[in-house]
Amino acid sequence: MLALHPPHRLLFGPGPSQVEARVYEAMAKPLVGYLDPFLYQVFDDVRNGLRAVFGTKNPCTLVIPGTGSAGMETAVTNFVDPGAKFAIFVNGFFCERIAEMGRRHGAQVVRAEKPWGEVFNKTEARAFLEKERPQVVAFVHGETSTGAMQAPEAITRPAREVGALVIADCVTTLGSVPIRVDQTGIDIAYSCTQKGLSAPPGLSPFTVSPRAVERLNARTTPNSIWYLDLKLLMEYYDGKKYHHTAPVSMFYALREALAAIQEEGVEQRFARHLQAHTSFVRRIEAMGLKMHVPAGQRLTTLNTPRVPEGVDDAEVRKQLLDEHGIEIAAGFGPLAGKIFRIGVMGPLATEQNLDLFFQALGKCLAIRATA
Ligand SMILES: Cc1ncc(COP(=O)(O)O)c(C=O)c1O
Repeated sequence: MLALHPPHRLLFGPGPSQVEARVYEAMAKPLVGYLDPFLYQVFDDVRNGLRAVFGTKNPCTLVIPGTGSAGMETAVTNFVDPGAKFAIFVNGFFCERIAEMGRRHGAQVVRAEKPWGEVFNKTEARAFLEKERPQVVAFVHGETSTGAMQAPEAITRPAREVGALVIADCVTTLGSVPIRVDQTGIDIAYSCTQKGLSAPPGLSPFTVSPRAVERLNARTTPNSIWYLDLKLLMEYYDGKKYHHTAPVSMFYALREALAAIQEEGVEQRFARHLQAHTSFVRRIEAMGLKMHVPAGQRLTTLNTPRVPEGVDDAEVRKQLLDEHGIEIAAGFGPLAGKIFRIGVMGPLATEQNLDLFFQALGKCLAIRATA
């Protein structure tokens, strides 16, 4: 085999996002065993760092071995019993994935639906939840397929009124957007490492409120997915009892990414991302493009401008990649060909990197405007 030389990319897509050199370097450090006291120190640092970005004091904050979808499946398989009524707020691709998992786990799935790019308000959520009275509710905080961000309280408040647990998909928000799990009343939140935390993909940060832990402990049927059984996972993290061979290098990477966040300051990092988003919108609108999602409902880490009339989005994306080494993504489903999906996350969320991006995008779009 030839030596491995991946191309240098600027990752302005929906994820994976750009990873700093210090995070790659951490991954190259020597392995220790899965019960080594050193690894448990790393776990402690990671769990504390995750509490800070989730905005929670939940003792049950840990890491699922797998990508964001593993976190999603952990949430469903541990908290949605077969036959339970599971209410899902559906307004994009990833809520559909949660619904599908619910269906496969034998839940009675009920759906509130909106077109891709819209969000739910409290009145709509309350009417739906009072009618259905589910045991568990799920929504996606940052819907990566549309660029919309759901205000958590619009769902958590009415859900609590009917006594339901709330699952929030925070895959595209953790680490760069405030979630404030305790304040907003989210019971179960999961995420990934490859977006707002700026680490490689492979782990799923996970947090559970004390009342959800109580519900879990009261469960009498064994979880049908042994690997994602939270009771067993907690015995590994808190009881130091072997469950699986932890992906040690990935934990080093996540710890380093969280250390970088701690050094910057969590609130400062959120503010930097918001500023980069505001600047992105100003610049893209100055080029004549329109944002798909209305102001105030936008996912600030993933921008979805509409593809201008007469422009082939695939050609623009190809030219950005081939000539400028810049990755952005396409819309799909009902938004195929209609939006670009442009992530501004982690080290790329600066004015300097936006300058680079907009120079390149300007060139790619100008050619088409004059063609
Ligand atoms: C909102 C959302 N949820 C879940 C996932 C699934 O995560 P993964 O691809 O890491 O399994 C993604 C992936 O992009 C996502 O954007």
